Amino acid sequence: MPTKDLHGRPLKSLRISVTDRCNLRCRYCMPEAHYTWLPRAEILNFEEVTQLARVFAGLGVDKIRLTGGEPLLRRGIPDLVQMLKEIPGIVEIALTTNGILLEEMAPHLRAAGLDRLTISLDTLDPLRFQRLTQQDKLTQTLSGIDAVLSAGFPPPKLDTVLIRGTNEDEIESLLAFAFERGLELRFIEYMDVGGATQWSWSKVVPRTEILERVAKRFGPVSPLQKTDNAPADRFTCADGKSFGIIASTTRPFCGGCDRSRLTADGKWFLCLYAPEGLDLRRPLRGGETPDQLRARIQASWSERADRGAEDRQKARTRGPLAGPADLRDNPHLEMHTRGG
Ligand code: GTP
Ligand code: 5AD
Ligand code: SF4
Repeated sequence: MPTKDLHGRPLKSLRISVTDRCNLRCRYCMPEAHYTWLPRAEILNFEEVTQLARVFAGLGVDKIRLTGGEPLLRRGIPDLVQMLKEIPGIVEIALTTNGILLEEMAPHLRAAGLDRLTISLDTLDPLRFQRLTQQDKLTQTLSGIDAVLSAGFPPPKLDTVLIRGTNEDEIESLLAFAFERGLELRFIEYMDVGGATQWSWSKVVPRTEILERVAKRFGPVSPLQKTDNAPADRFTCADGKSFGIIASTTRPFCGGCDRSRLTADGKWFLCLYAPEGLDLRRPLRGGETPDQLRARIQASWSERADRGAEDRQKARTRGPLAGPADLRDNPHLEMHTRGG
């Protein structure tokens, strides 16, 4: 029997953030000049991550997604993929990346058994990329997409966070880029998560507006039936090409949320918006057995009631989840710490 929470949601998908570091500074995620990093000694080694993942698999987790920060900055990441791949019950390992290091890493990730990748791509304009990320690296991301295809992976998904006044004028060109290459792009509504200190409602490009613009340029759009608890709603255009929208801000999908997040230092968060996580590093390093860890995790999930995005939507006034000072005091609130 899978472990269920108070809303009957099973524990299925685990996002493991392997580092809080990133080689970009995307405005929607890391806009500040200074960050508090997790202490090195507290970062779980691969053996520790694998031990925890094995316990999670025993409780029903079947999908693991490696995230960060930028997960490819973690040295030896293909070794971790290989170790996780050997865990009975894990049927899929995916990774979310900004693509910068993919040209070099894609073949190694493939050889290690990684199943699929999602690549963030917010603009096709090099100057805008530089302004949005503080790095002149669009070429590397684009080469990274090609490298994934050459390495024999299934076509990667592309993730685009839309911000009004920044890149919403690229809805059509980004989609055309994805369509030409046979890739599925997902537009993501700008979220008021920790780290998004410049968030405001006026900068959110809502799902309805995205759909109108796509239909205007590419013709009638039809919704596809949902087959799983993934956050994206999928659509097809008249020629059968598909795309997605992740409408976490205007249409939260907490009801089916089977996801949880493990930070690089072993804190387990039951919701993207949860103020606190359960520390698994201390008991693990203190020598608790897999059964003891399992009991902790199971007890915590069975009391889970989180519906963070829905709660945010109900709030009368809405602004950034945390200010720069809160984030410096508590880096676990950051999206780049708990996994983008
Ligand atoms: P697949 O559908 O298996 O590809 O996984 P995914 O859609 O979770 O992949 P990805 O890591 O690319 O997630 C896409 C984006 O959806 C994230 O970067 C977030 O912006 C958003 N997202 C992912 N998980 C959650 C979640 O638990 N809650 C909310 N509100 N948004 C999420
Ligand atoms: N809003 C929406 N998505 C975000 N991400 C990070 N910060 C935000 C935010 N404020 C997600 C995006 C990005 C990935 C690395 O993390 O999907 O592509
Ligand atoms: Fe899941 Fe929390 Fe995201 Fe809702 S806001 S989908 S409960 S992680």
